[in-house]
Amino acid sequence: MNVKPKIGIILATTRPTRFADKPARWLSDLVRGRDDADFEIVDLRDYPMPFFEEEQSPALVPPRNEAALRWARKMAELDGYIFVTPEYNHGIPAVLKNALDYANAEYNRKPASFVGYGGVGAARGVEQLRLVLLALQMAPLKQSVHINATEFIALSMQGKTFADYPYLGDSVQPLLDNLVWWANALKVARDLDAAKRDTIHGKAA
Ligand SMILES: Cc1cc2nc3c(=O)[nH]c(=O)nc-3n(C[C@H](O)[C@H](O)[C@H](O)COP(=O)(O)O)c2cc1C
Repeated sequence: MNVKPKIGIILATTRPTRFADKPARWLSDLVRGRDDADFEIVDLRDYPMPFFEEEQSPALVPPRNEAALRWARKMAELDGYIFVTPEYNHGIPAVLKNALDYANAEYNRKPASFVGYGGVGAARGVEQLRLVLLALQMAPLKQSVHINATEFIALSMQGKTFADYPYLGDSVQPLLDNLVWWANALKVARDLDAAKRDTIHGKAA
């Protein structure tokens, strides 16, 4: 039986006046009509983690911090991720890096795509994020959508809405198609691994 993959739309910033909510809402509206995956918003504000202070790496033991443990469990539930992110000083927002550091195996062999926004559509931040995700054994995909300066300024300061830029919505569809393809493919492969492990450990029916 083919169970639909679960994709998290991750809001990568938390500051009170953040722009992140606008692209996240827009993306949620765009995915509403799709029946090939289940999408959910994952907001870092709901996981208020301290700067990393665990005794051990989450590669070795689960985090003890309550919010971090919830974050790790949420990452484990998901089969793929869309990071909705700006860049802060050409890098990834620190709050996102901190969150990523709090889990490990939960991300392994799962695909990620990106919606960047800001001066250069967060192109530099997204490239850095791809490198970080490789260390977490994710599969960062080539597809990304970048909301560049003209649209970003108009959306954030000039009262424009995403409806004014239909080409942005059009460019999200191939990103979603590809992400869902990878999420399905890697889910099948992970499930096969799990079934093999169960057989070895005598858990098969
Ligand atoms: C600390 C900080 C650093 C920033 N650095 C960059 C940058 O390097 N490149 C860029 O295009 N925009 C930069 N910006 C502008 C952001 O793209 C813009 O503020 C965006 O709304 C930030 O995302 P957020 O509103 O979700 O926090 C920076 C903003 C902040 C707060």
